[in-house]
Amino acid sequence: MAARKIILDCDPGHDDAIAIMLAAKHPAIDLLGITIVAGNQTLDKTLVNGLNVCQALDINTPVYAGMPQPIMRKQIVADNIHGETGLDGPIFPPLKREAEKTHAINFIIDTLLNSEGDITLVPVGPLSNIAVAMRMQPKIIPKIREIVLMGGAYGTGNFTPSAEFNIFADPEAAKVVFTSGVPLVMMGLDLTHQTVCTQDIIKRMENVGGPAGKLFSDIMNFTLKTQFDNYGLAGGPVHDATCIAYLINPDAFKVQDMYVEIDVNNGPCYGRTVCDELGVLGQPTNTKVGITLNTTWFWDVVEECIKKYC
Ligand code: BDR
Ligand code: CA
Repeated sequence: MAARKIILDCDPGHDDAIAIMLAAKHPAIDLLGITIVAGNQTLDKTLVNGLNVCQALDINTPVYAGMPQPIMRKQIVADNIHGETGLDGPIFPPLKREAEKTHAINFIIDTLLNSEGDITLVPVGPLSNIAVAMRMQPKIIPKIREIVLMGGAYGTGNFTPSAEFNIFADPEAAKVVFTSGVPLVMMGLDLTHQTVCTQDIIKRMENVGGPAGKLFSDIMNFTLKTQFDNYGLAGGPVHDATCIAYLINPDAFKVQDMYVEIDVNNGPCYGRTVCDELGVLGQPTNTKVGITLNTTWFWDVVEECIKKYC
């Protein structure tokens, strides 16, 4: 089967870095470009982090800088989870890799317009880049094969009791994407929290060796610390990597079709993905929402990809 063409839109970010690791090497994925957005940290930092990860793993995929701000709301960052740099933990050598001159929004638009409608967008940060691209050139919308995103939750949020970080960081952008009519797959916290990485998994990946084994270990050791400090958890989820895993093998996931609406009202549910799990609204469904995944298979795929860097 032909590899799935994707654009990975991210805000690196610890789990974003693991998503890059998987996407760049798995034979089922054809990574056309990495577009960067502000999110876990400011854009200057998330861009440097993305370039550092590519340099450390010798990934030659072009990297594009995108939106430095959300569409409407005041900017927030997740320094409580990802640290001052946005990717605290690993120590990188001096950076030689550079971003492309083209803006991420132009890259997304031009690539989609010139495509056969076979490109999947994989946003694993705030949806600012995707929403702005849709507003700037609506002709891209029917060209998008599918959007497989990390964000939201049908249960509890992680930045407010109602909202997950990626959606909370730019709810208005999420509204644009969720009302676009593009087929959506949403890997929310309910699913991503099943990928909790513990010390034994870190050891397993470290034992593979190579630059990716080392980077995985440095990244996840830091994540374990912040997850414990913030949420009292003994392990750290690798949220963003689930989107790549889904594209590698959707059969390893249970998803449920739901109508999902984004709350953009200024109240306690601002940024919530309101998921009509029981179908009580009688609205046509617009999203496949991740429910469970085969975690044994998931960690095997992570290990398989890390081995490819040795
Ligand atoms: C999401 O927020 C970010 O901190 C992570 O990179 C992930 O994309 C989880 O809520
Ligand atoms: Ca992210």
